[in-house]
Amino acid sequence: MTTPELVRDPAAWQARALSDRAAGRALALVPTMGFLHDGHLSLLREARRRVGPGGVVLASIFVNPTQFGPNEDLAAYPRDLEGDLRRCAEAGVSRVLAPEPEAMFPAGHQTWVEVREVSQGLCGARRPGHFRGVATVVAKLFLLSQPHLAFFGEKDYQQLQVLRAMVRDLGFPVEIVGMPIVREPDGLARSSRNSYLSPEERTRALSLSRALFEAREAAAGGQRDAATLVALARAALEAGGVRPDYVELVHPETLRPVARAEPGSVLLLAGFAGKTRLIDNLRLP
Ligand code: PAF
Repeated sequence: MTTPELVRDPAAWQARALSDRAAGRALALVPTMGFLHDGHLSLLREARRRVGPGGVVLASIFVNPTQFGPNEDLAAYPRDLEGDLRRCAEAGVSRVLAPEPEAMFPAGHQTWVEVREVSQGLCGARRPGHFRGVATVVAKLFLLSQPHLAFFGEKDYQQLQVLRAMVRDLGFPVEIVGMPIVREPDGLARSSRNSYLSPEERTRALSLSRALFEAREAAAGGQRDAATLVALARAALEAGGVRPDYVELVHPETLRPVARAEPGSVLLLAGFAGKTRLIDNLRLP
């Protein structure tokens, strides 16, 4: 197990990536905001598996200020670079980019990437500017890292669709790989924000996955009406002590609400356990 090289300077990082590419090496990128958990590890391990022992696995650790709203948790967002480097070493990461915010967004920065339609509803409607910040930093990370493959978790389902649209529309030569949600044994989706939860809030947070599983069972039993499935999931959230932010059944790519559940429709929800906002989703059978 070798500790990956830590790079702070985006220009030095890009120079290394360009020379790797010129040497014909396969490059895989896993963009993260750090505080790595088992969900991130599944992305890093799959990245290593896909590029093989001769390939280069790049991880970025950057709490991107441009994707946080003014009243969100940027300052409180959990950080643990030392622990992250250990986990990256376990997963076979070659290099880690951990830049300062001023290195990524120096004074005078004025260029943004906006993905219109899929950014509009769901989290995009509740967090104005969030997906503009995500798309811009990921576009920049793609240009700095020159990856053939880039890995993202399906827990951030809307983010994944935004980034797929960006890659398609702007012609980035990168394959986006979406990886399944990793859950705790009791169903809670892994998230860095779970670290904010008190034991009592963590118990409440279980109602996110429970709401999804109940809706899935109803759908498997023949219930296809979207309004009924959404109401059922919303009631499960409320019964478990989570304040719903949204619950929607949508088309898997356009993210437009559907009236009837079709195979592949995705049920997405967000809710507050105490002050912590959590998201989760499930593809219906
Ligand atoms: O999913 C995340 O952790 C972030 O949104 C990402 C993709 C690393 C961009 O900052």
